Order: sequence, then C-alpha cells, then structure tokens
Amino acid sequence: MKTLVTGGAGFIASHVCDRLLALGHHVAIVDNLVTGKRENLPEEAAFHETDICDQDLYDVFRAEQPEVVVLESIANPYYQICHAVANPGKGRDLIGEVISSAEKSGN
Ligand SMILES: NC(=O)c1ccc[n+]([C@@H]2O[C@H](COP(=O)([O-])OP(=O)(O)OC[C@H]3O[C@@H](n4cnc5c(N)ncnc54)[C@H](O)[C@@H]3O)[C@@H](O)[C@H]2O)c1
Repeated sequence: MKTLVTGGAGFIASHVCDRLLALGHHVAIVDNLVTGKRENLPEEAAFHETDICDQDLYDVFRAEQPEVVVLESIANPYYQICHAVANPGKGRDLIGEVISSAEKSGN
C-alpha cells in the first residue's frame, strides 16, 4: 500500500516508517527537517523535504498518490509556538493543511 508519513525524519515517525517498510508498504516521507535528521530517513523511502503547510505538499500528493496518510509527529508544540510567535496572525492548522492538499489533488 502507498503510504505518506509526515514528520518521517523524526524520532517516532522514522520507526513507524521502518515498520511500514518491513510490512511491504511503499513509504513516502514529508519532513521540513526543522527537528528531524536525514540519518533517520530509511533508504527505501521516498523523501520530500517540505513543510506540510507549503504549496509543495499538493505536488507531493499528486506525485505519490498515497492511499494512506500517517499524520505522525507534526504536533511538536515547541515548534508551533515558535512559529506562531514569529508569524503573528498566521495560525496553523497542520492537520487541516494536509487534508486540504489531499483533497485538492483528488486523493
Ligand atoms: N519522543 C518521545 O519520547 C515523545 C514522547 C511523548 C510525546 N512525544 C511527541 O510526539 C511528537 C513527535 O516526537 P518526536 O520525538 O518523534 O519528535 P521529532 O522532533 O523527532 O519529530 C518531529 C518531526 O516532524 C518534522 N516536522 C515538524 N513540523 C513539520 C512541518 N510543519 N512540516 C514537515 N515536517 C515537520 C520534524 O522535522 C521532525 O522530523 C512530538 O509532538 C512530541 O512532543 C514524543
């Protein structure tokens, strides 16, 4: 099954990716590397370095055509608070952004 994992370069989600790959899934990862590490990325996974709020996410959905989306690791409260402070008035509904990109791409 084609699976898209957000935050897959992070500690928890990289283990989720390893498990999905071991089960035979095709795994694509979206991560902006704000706290994630390249060395956490499994070699077998496709990696898209982008923020889930970027327009690029729509292109990722178009390219990968995932059947399942694992919304993992994106609720980092520290990062979100820092972003909110740095970008006043631009609140982020991260899960909403992912769903919106999926809908726009017809997934
Ligand atoms: N690690 C733990 O023991 C633990 C325990 C309890 C709760 N948590 C919570 O679980 C979540 C994940 O923990 P973790 O240790 O895997 O964190 P992590 O920082 O290692 O992983 C988060 C990943 O999400 C990516 N990311 C963050 N915002 C993004 C965005 N907007 N677009 C794309 N990628 C983005 C980061 O680059 C990183 O790779 C956090 O919310 C954490 O507070 C972790």
